[in-house]
Amino acid sequence: MATPAETFRQHFGGSGRCFSAPGRVNLIGEHVDYNAGIVLPMAIGLRLWVRAGPRSDRQLHVIAHDLGETDVLDLDAPCRRTGTWRDYLSGTAFHLEAAGFRLIGANMLITSDIPAGAGLSSSAALEVAVGFALLSLAGHTVDRLALARAGQAAEHDFVGTRCGLMDQFVVAHGRAGHAVWLDCRSLACDFIPLATNQCAVVVADSGVKHQLAASEYNTRRQECETARQHLASRFPALASLRDLSSADLADALDVLPEPLLRRARHVVTEIERVTAFARALRAGDWAQAGALLTASHRSLSEDYAVSCPELDALVAAARQIPGCYGARLTGGGFGGCTVNLVAPEALDVFLREVPRAYARSTGGTARMWVVQPADGVR
Ligand code: GLA
Repeated sequence: MATPAETFRQHFGGSGRCFSAPGRVNLIGEHVDYNAGIVLPMAIGLRLWVRAGPRSDRQLHVIAHDLGETDVLDLDAPCRRTGTWRDYLSGTAFHLEAAGFRLIGANMLITSDIPAGAGLSSSAALEVAVGFALLSLAGHTVDRLALARAGQAAEHDFVGTRCGLMDQFVVAHGRAGHAVWLDCRSLACDFIPLATNQCAVVVADSGVKHQLAASEYNTRRQECETARQHLASRFPALASLRDLSSADLADALDVLPEPLLRRARHVVTEIERVTAFARALRAGDWAQAGALLTASHRSLSEDYAVSCPELDALVAAARQIPGCYGARLTGGGFGGCTVNLVAPEALDVFLREVPRAYARSTGGTARMWVVQPADGVR
């Protein structure tokens, strides 16, 4: 089979320029980005690659190499909601132009190591890598925040997922050796060193595909907004659930009907856990960091209701292994992956035994990756 470089040359001539963007795993801070909260993800070594060369017109000629599909998109007539990979491309291009970055046509070939639908942000990688390539070919200096925002806007009105900014932000800004602490209200960002030789980060894929646009993701976002409106009768200045403390929530039990109380409780406690986790990470206190992951999973499963039996089984299997500090679902949920903190000396047993236990309890196959914090788009 022809390599991507050979295929590009055969179709378009020349070798093009090579761009790539990483997948991401969120360590903690789940479903809080769209509540103006704090998140702590990291970019990972799995990447999506775009080989691209300029055209003299305003068309995008695209080869989706792994899918064996090709298409021609028109920058002057972007079409919305085809329900395919095209939406991510036309949406990102459309929103970059809307933000003032005039683009030119391009020939592109796309390949990816990031499994789709596994909650590792393959779609954010696609948006950010394609956007970076288009900005570069058109001669723009890349504004990474504008790029992340264009990807998020593409999700909102071309794909149909009303996501927060976390995924696109970390894919655009990731840094090797570091987790990315992001305040989703001020967009203040900090890089926290993550010594994976002291504590390994393992991603385990449940094999259950998730489709956020079709899932209850948008429902959860709406529930948070409704909860905020209820709470505004008690706290008139409440701009988002971020502004609520646990003590405030305890005072407001009577104004929040179920399930809104549980949804709000997840958001409030999760933001507190992110702060405690960042402290544990800086101190190298892996036992504490792991305990926070496990508490986060319980909250996501019981209060936020975004887990599924397979993810619960994968977390339970991980927690059985001595040397596993903690485990939880990562990303939007409803399937996809878990993230696990594991003592290096326990890694071999962990990688062998967790898939076995998962197969015994669910009949499913778990894929495992030991991941390192990686650089963002380049
Ligand atoms: C998806 C969304 C993010 C975030 C997570 C949940 O990955 O794209 O914006 O909301 O779910 O934390």
